[in-house]
Amino acid sequence: MLKPLLTLEQVGKIYGGKVALHDVNFAIYPGEFIALVGMSGGGKSTILRLIAQLEAPTAGDIKFADPNTTVRVMFQNDRLLPWMTNLENVSFKSKNKTQQQRAKEMLSEVGLADFADSYPGQLSGGQKQRLALARALMAQPQLLLLDEPLGALDALTRRKMQTFIADICAKQHLTTLLITHDVDEAARMADRVIVVKDGTNVYEADGAKNQDTATIATVSERILNVILHAPATAAGVH
Ligand SMILES: Nc1ncnc2c1ncn2[C@@H]1O[C@H](COP(=O)(O)OP(=O)(O)OP(=O)(O)O)[C@@H](O)[C@H]1O
Ligand SMILES: [Mg+2]
Repeated sequence: MLKPLLTLEQVGKIYGGKVALHDVNFAIYPGEFIALVGMSGGGKSTILRLIAQLEAPTAGDIKFADPNTTVRVMFQNDRLLPWMTNLENVSFKSKNKTQQQRAKEMLSEVGLADFADSYPGQLSGGQKQRLALARALMAQPQLLLLDEPLGALDALTRRKMQTFIADICAKQHLTTLLITHDVDEAARMADRVIVVKDGTNVYEADGAKNQDTATIATVSERILNVILHAPATAAGVH
């Protein structure tokens, strides 16, 4: 059995007396693509912020097997810098030749090689998300955290980006945690889907990554039912 890349044990988070998370327990294994799904306000983004160490938990532990694990986050709001060229957004204007070369490679990787010298404002929504992905990959993260990265895209671009991100993560053996409201997206992209409800993980199921449309539909229907009907008590039950 592989050792987890990180483990959440009895994790809780309280904001000013209000419980945002309680008893969150799950592990993420190297190379896995995990989707966190659930209703708005359930605690998904809070889990992501705790894993990214942007905030500290008020209870429990988040244990990384290697404390030096490189983690990068990509948000829906892509946070690109409009006054820098697309290439500079990826390289952060590094003068280091190796970094500059890598930034160019990352732009190519996301299909934006021809857009190096233009600006984020000249890109379409899907292209902006690909640029944000190139920037996130620049640091060669072992763990990539994605919070609703595709929420602002139209349905067709979104579908293309789902395949694109899943393929790039597989190719680079990236461990990935994706937050999404879209249960079909979760089933389509993930090896494992974790349902978060009322501040805790209530259910998990195998995803249907690389499987046929019928299987994806069956898996997403089952997960949708859990989101709508599961009691917020049992943690991590199959
Ligand atoms: N900084 C904060 N201060 C106070 N309460 C917060 C803060 N951040 C989150 N919360 C609360 O914690 C709960 C979980 O929020 P979170 O953003 O994690 O939900 P979510 O599952 O990501 O929802 P959505 O799908 O709408 O993004 C909510 O009740 C929210 O109001
Ligand atoms: Mg959120």
